[in-house]
Amino acid sequence: MLCSCALGLSTRPSTSDYKGAGQQSQLSLRPLHGDLGVEVIGVDLKGGISLELHAELQKIMHTRDLLLFRDQDLEPKDEDAFMRGFPHNEQAVASDNLSNHYFKDWRVPDHKLVAVQFSGLKLENHFGVTSEEFNLSAKNKQAGISFKTLWHMDLAQNQMPPEWVSLYMLQKPPNGGDTLFASTVGAYERLSPSQQKLVDSLEVVNRRPDSFEGTFQIDETGTWTNDPVQASGRVDSEPSRRFEYTQPFVIRDPYTGQKSLLYHTRFFHCFKGYTRAQSRAIIEEVLLPAIAPEHTYRHEWRNGDFIAWSNRKIVHTSTDPEKYADEARLFHLVFLDSKQPLLPASA
Ligand SMILES: [Fe+2]
Repeated sequence: MLCSCALGLSTRPSTSDYKGAGQQSQLSLRPLHGDLGVEVIGVDLKGGISLELHAELQKIMHTRDLLLFRDQDLEPKDEDAFMRGFPHNEQAVASDNLSNHYFKDWRVPDHKLVAVQFSGLKLENHFGVTSEEFNLSAKNKQAGISFKTLWHMDLAQNQMPPEWVSLYMLQKPPNGGDTLFASTVGAYERLSPSQQKLVDSLEVVNRRPDSFEGTFQIDETGTWTNDPVQASGRVDSEPSRRFEYTQPFVIRDPYTGQKSLLYHTRFFHCFKGYTRAQSRAIIEEVLLPAIAPEHTYRHEWRNGDFIAWSNRKIVHTSTDPEKYADEARLFHLVFLDSKQPLLPASA
């Protein structure tokens, strides 16, 4: 279904619809799911877009939390420019002190904000990135890891998780590889007043590596699973990489005032003051419903899809890793460094 702004997007009744700031927009939008997401039709991000258009897209982002642009033919400079249009920590980006330092070997030299992710192929000067063939499946098999897909927000275990993340698909695997997205704003809003009061008071203890013990990993089906890295015996015991600190479980969106649940399944250890068993029971009650199929948007990737999303308001997971484990795939990721502290529910 295509429709034009100002449009009454179907969304959660307790959140305000996007009205184009009182203006009639020419954007064509297609809602993707009741809770989140909109396809922006007819916008070519190549070569950059106007500040006015970006501002309009940001307004849509703040209420729909995920923007899909199909059939894009982008270069890293286009991804870089579009993402930097969102509020961010320019000093961190300019200094290369980037959230995506995990991918440091595969960042585009001229646009280090853009990380190249690939498997099952080798790169020959892909925007300046060259690599021998890398096969994630073979690497995991060698390490004894049975790869599982886990619900998370990107880098939610960090004290300043990215607010905005993008994924640009250049070569999708022939089989599988869909991504699931679920709104934790919707999850919060569907809680009862007493549940909301409880979660508003909770603090998450994120811990590494001890969080790999136990079964606090939620896979794509919503099933508790043993952490694959832990199961392989490859717990990262490097002391310098250990951390433990608390974060608010409920955070307030600075742009809309909405509340959402902040969560990274791998690093969640417990709620402060609660045992792990009690913490798990709370997660099951308040978070698992959020990833039920009726509340989930499943994105079937096409080459040329560019998706940007509000990382602090959506959990996501890849799916069916065994289907594409040995297939060639290639995409770009941007984790845009934020200067926006996590606002607790009381803010
Ligand atoms: Fe992710």
